[in-house]
Amino acid sequence: MSPVNVLMDVDTGVDDALAIMFAVAHPEVNLLGISCVAGNAALPQVVLNTLKILDAAGAGDIPVAAGAVRPLIAPARDASHVHGADGLGGIVLPETNRRPVGQGAVGMLRDRLVASSGPVTIIALAPQTNLALLLRTHPEVAAKVERILSMGGSASVGNATPTAEFNVWHDPEAAAIVLDSGIPTFMYGLDVFNHVAVAREQTEALQASSRRAQKVAGALLAHRIGMGPGREPVYTGLIGDAGAVCALVDPDALRVERLPVFVELAGASRGQTVVDRRQFPGEDRMHGLHSAVGLTDVALEVDAQRYVDFYLATIAQLD
Ligand code: RIB
Ligand code: CA
Repeated sequence: MSPVNVLMDVDTGVDDALAIMFAVAHPEVNLLGISCVAGNAALPQVVLNTLKILDAAGAGDIPVAAGAVRPLIAPARDASHVHGADGLGGIVLPETNRRPVGQGAVGMLRDRLVASSGPVTIIALAPQTNLALLLRTHPEVAAKVERILSMGGSASVGNATPTAEFNVWHDPEAAAIVLDSGIPTFMYGLDVFNHVAVAREQTEALQASSRRAQKVAGALLAHRIGMGPGREPVYTGLIGDAGAVCALVDPDALRVERLPVFVELAGASRGQTVVDRRQFPGEDRMHGLHSAVGLTDVALEVDAQRYVDFYLATIAQLD
């Protein structure tokens, strides 16, 4: 397949970092720019982490822009208990000479979309605040967006709450705006996110490498983003957000259904992506409720080992 024009929106974070490294490494990803948003960590830390990870991946001159410092409505709630206080699990990376572009995320996203000669895929790996602001500020750019492929939501279990996944829970209103935008959407949610994990031995082999990018990827994979029943850190090896970029290049490893999806904005399940998997409409539809819900391609199953092998083979191309 010819290279796909991609803009990434991140809250770098351990697994956003793994995703950025994959995007830089894969020849079929034409990375036009990266926008940053508060999520796993505060915005300045997310921007710094993103710049440093581009260095670690040996990336070219990729524009990085700072976006929203908090969700549209809710207060910011970081995930430092998962990603560490610095968002990268305490991994020490060299200082960077890279700097974010002067304009904000909305301006950078808009300019890159307008300037692109062809359609662009937006890969959303974070709370979707920047994307909601983009669509409300420059609705005309939607015509240049081929689809929004997001790590977000779940058709089953939550993580931030029993029913809500962190990115959507962090800014449910933003996720609802994106789902209602009319742009084709693809949901790489926890139903698949939770299963793509690198074996400990493979992670240890990366950590033992003498090559910079391999060592950094190994350190990221080794960071214990999982917690046991006593909240003790446990090894997971999850590639996390990076699976969403794998899905861009190798969608056949997924079982996908096109389903009605809406975001719950109130009550105990606020932030839940309600995925309608019924075979027949129910009373809600009979009484005119939820009838305007748009359809989303939802990844429900994944060939996990295929994505693990794909991920490792791709980042092996880095130094
Ligand atoms: O729920 C997982 C998501 O929340 C990932 O994108 C992770 O980086 C955090 O942003
Ligand atoms: Ca993320």
